[in-house]
Amino acid sequence: MSDELIELEEEEYTSPLTAPTLRRIVALLRPHRLRLAGFLLAIGTTALLDAVFTYLNRAMIDQGISQKDFPILLRYAAYYGGLQIVQAAMVFGFIYTVGILGERIQYELRKAVFNHLQELSLSYYSQNPVGRLMARVTSDSGRVADLMTWGLLDVTWALVSIAASLVFMLSINWRLALTVFATIPILLIIAVNFRKRILAEFRRARRLNSKITGEYNQTIQGVRVVKALGREEENLIEFAHLTDEMYHASYRAAWLSALFLPAVQIVSAFALGAIVWYGGLQSQIGNFSVGDIHAFVSYLTFMIWPVQDLARVYAEMQHAVASAERIFTLLDTPAEVRDRPGAIPAQTLLGEIEFDHVSFWYEEDQPILQDFTLKVQPGETIALVGPTGGGKTTLVNLLCRFYEPKRGVIRLNGRDYTEYTLESLHSRLGVVLQTPHLFSGTIRENIRYGRLDASDAEVEEAARIAGAHDFIMTFEKGYDQEVGEGGNLLSVGQKQLISLARAVLARPEIFIMDEATSSVDTLTEALIQRGMEALMRGRTSFVIAHRLSTIKRADRILVIENGRIVEQGSHADLLRRRGQYYRLYTQQFKFEKARAYGVAPAIETVPLS
Ligand SMILES: Nc1ncnc2c1ncn2[C@@H]1O[C@H](COP(=O)(O)OP(=O)(O)O)[C@@H](O)[C@H]1O
Ligand SMILES: [Mg+2]
Repeated sequence: MSDELIELEEEEYTSPLTAPTLRRIVALLRPHRLRLAGFLLAIGTTALLDAVFTYLNRAMIDQGISQKDFPILLRYAAYYGGLQIVQAAMVFGFIYTVGILGERIQYELRKAVFNHLQELSLSYYSQNPVGRLMARVTSDSGRVADLMTWGLLDVTWALVSIAASLVFMLSINWRLALTVFATIPILLIIAVNFRKRILAEFRRARRLNSKITGEYNQTIQGVRVVKALGREEENLIEFAHLTDEMYHASYRAAWLSALFLPAVQIVSAFALGAIVWYGGLQSQIGNFSVGDIHAFVSYLTFMIWPVQDLARVYAEMQHAVASAERIFTLLDTPAEVRDRPGAIPAQTLLGEIEFDHVSFWYEEDQPILQDFTLKVQPGETIALVGPTGGGKTTLVNLLCRFYEPKRGVIRLNGRDYTEYTLESLHSRLGVVLQTPHLFSGTIRENIRYGRLDASDAEVEEAARIAGAHDFIMTFEKGYDQEVGEGGNLLSVGQKQLISLARAVLARPEIFIMDEATSSVDTLTEALIQRGMEALMRGRTSFVIAHRLSTIKRADRILVIENGRIVEQGSHADLLRRRGQYYRLYTQQFKFEKARAYGVAPAIETVPLS
């Protein structure tokens, strides 16, 4: 299990139910009120009929069996049978609706959350890893739906059962009824306490279990490091400690579970003793019949289970409420980047691009860009180079409107780009990132994702331009090769080439590559180079690359450091200037040479421009 999931398991918060949360949970049920009413009616009737059956039993015993009055016995038996059929129908009804209701609620919750997640800006994701977010949404919405269906079912059933039993008992003998009823609070307290503690121990055991698995994975994966550092002994001790703790937690959970029922039984045995004792005494003076005793004993049993159900729902409810609150918090997180009121679709992005005194920061006190100004002519190829953390990706993020400037304006075709709809911008931008994302499916499907109506020939042409065709043909199934979940059957370099092909196919008006070929070998990159040059003609392009050979031919090269342009010009200009770019280039050149020959060059290599 990954560290992420361990963290997730540790996040087993509980929350008390507050009025606003309750109101929002109830609001989730509002669209289903008809179905809900039927559902509650069915459960209520079922619970009520159980109490009625006991009452009928009493009449059958006292009026039928004791008096040997068979016609009466038969009549009651007929009532009994008839009501059984009604009850069976009710049981079918609520089990059927509880399933549908649960599915609907879960579906609606997830839909709401996913819709909102799509609107949230990138900054939300940089603080909340996606995998964890998804796992949380899935488990949280399941838990809330469970509370609102099975939890509601148990509570309704329990309350109706207890209330009906009480009414019937009161009608038979109010003194004894009150005595029996007095045991309910005691049972509830015992049940709630046991439930809570059992739940806590189970969760503890589960958490430890994932920790152990995590530890295990780490040790196995890092086995060489462990051996090299002589850490075997320490690891073993840590491991033994965890296993020990888990054993104890499981042991306590089992022990509490075993103790729970006997404790409940002892308390109810007292109530049972009271019934038999009091009933026996009263029956001697003719005030209490055999049927009465039977009815009381049955009603007592009827109440023990509902009380336990109530305790269980109560213990679980606090976790469900915490889940609900997490979902609501997520839904309440405002989306930073969204369409402005009255936004218009952009007709074309093939115009001038202007960063006008743009300032930007991810965190308030750490400005990344300050007063950044840049004009790019349509069709220009701009290369961004510079040290890691300089702000190249941030510039691209702003251009793509994944984020918006905090101050200043970005203009496309002379118009503030926040006046355009996001959809019209994103559909005309082609972005290829360092960490490409593929969907499970075939290579062909993944490329075609760039333009859904492209023909097979167009898909292949795009793959050729992107330099992906050759490696695709090495697969037995060629373009129909499955890429696996998230493309995990391919190497990072192969994934980069496929997403490049996808962007090529999309024919964007602005083309952006952010270290898109960083995991591709030099030879392949040179190959891609030619195809891309043809492609970039007539389009505005931004290229960020490590290898300077890739950016040599750009119309303009910007050297970005600390969010500023420290140098700009063509490759030849910049080399002549012998500044930052010249240093970067010569370093790179030496490095490539050294790699090619397997040795470091003995003399300074000064590239000719
Ligand atoms: N999501 C983020 N949240 C906070 N800081 C960030 C985020 N992304 C990047 N940064 C910071 O912004 C600066 C510029 O990063 P980046 O634009 O990725 O540079 P480059 O692409 O040139 O390596 C770095 O200091 C980096 O730590
Ligand atoms: Mg970057």
